[in-house]
Amino acid sequence: MDMKEIEREAAAYEGVVRAHRRALHRIPELGYSEQKTQAYILKELQALAPDEVRVFAQTGVRAVFRGNGQGRVVAFRADIDALPVKEETGCAFASEHPGFMHACGHDGHMAMLLGAARMLCEARAQLRGSVRLIFQPSEESADFVQGARAVVEDGRALDGVDAIFGAHLWSPLPSGVLGWRAGPMMACSDSWTVKLRGQGGHGASPHQTHDPTVAAAQLICALQTFVSRELDPQKSAVLSTGVMKAGGAFNVIPSEAELTGTARSFEPQISRDCEAFIRRMAENIGAAFRCTAELDYRRNLPPTVNDAEMARLGAETGRGIFGADMVREVPPTMGGEDFSFYLEKIPGAFFFIGCGDAAKGSDWPHHHCKFTIDESQLCKGAAFEAACAWAFLNQ
Ligand code: NI
Repeated sequence: MDMKEIEREAAAYEGVVRAHRRALHRIPELGYSEQKTQAYILKELQALAPDEVRVFAQTGVRAVFRGNGQGRVVAFRADIDALPVKEETGCAFASEHPGFMHACGHDGHMAMLLGAARMLCEARAQLRGSVRLIFQPSEESADFVQGARAVVEDGRALDGVDAIFGAHLWSPLPSGVLGWRAGPMMACSDSWTVKLRGQGGHGASPHQTHDPTVAAAQLICALQTFVSRELDPQKSAVLSTGVMKAGGAFNVIPSEAELTGTARSFEPQISRDCEAFIRRMAENIGAAFRCTAELDYRRNLPPTVNDAEMARLGAETGRGIFGADMVREVPPTMGGEDFSFYLEKIPGAFFFIGCGDAAKGSDWPHHHCKFTIDESQLCKGAAFEAACAWAFLNQ
């Protein structure tokens, strides 16, 4: 069988891919707790007789399928973790783990990659080179324990890989559309915390205090001027405050106030400028209100930057599967994605597989308790992944 036949026959895999998705949807697990998920993937991959299959990165799985003869190595990655969200979809195959849910579509990502593995197996005799599948844990984690870091640090996992691809089912994009772009696709994700320390006291005697809550309030307003006054208007960034913490009683002025937020952009220099800006504002506004300020700034994820050639290879391949007019260049999003760590090391590309369809109720935002995917796109997604691997190795 060659890949053209597989593309034509892709619909034949629909039942299998859908069944994977539903089975995995029932057992959502948080990052690095994906034991049942890992066991499921392992069993399904073993049934395909890969040249190599092993658990790694704690709860991840990787497998190698060698084709016919020597050639390049292409990798495909699916993320496997779920979220601490209580499912309210009411679907027949809803989460069996109360309080946890596949609310981002990673169940579909696993199903598509398992489907792609099966398709590639059928074409194995004609595959030039080898395909490495990476089922990566813990994509959703915020802080330095991202699964992609663990995979990259594993050393052997990406050894010799010439190109890497990944895809996300994407509800903001209509079903049937494949979204691609060259260059920055998703933003970096930084987090920051400012601690303002003053001098607390009685709420009725503010003159005897150095009130850090007033400094914090001024600081939140001042942070809005990074985007409006300091950033080149042709560029984009986000600076948001997500947490304000201070005090505990109506008649006590606290001695500390704390703000935490996120900063997003597509360029390392903007991230550095943002950190310097927050520090300058925090220290100077703090000083103006007789408080001290301390900034903790963390770079959790670099921006996801697609290699232009690999992005075009995917778009070109996608035309055969989604239809020429359904492959669209999309604007970048401010969301973060730990696929960025792979793209720092290896040329590759990340794609959005549209699955938003109001009639099917699959247009809820990601991470929402009613989020679901349009299952009709899973098989196309699997065929797309298999075809990308094929195109990279055989063309
Ligand atoms: Ni996701």
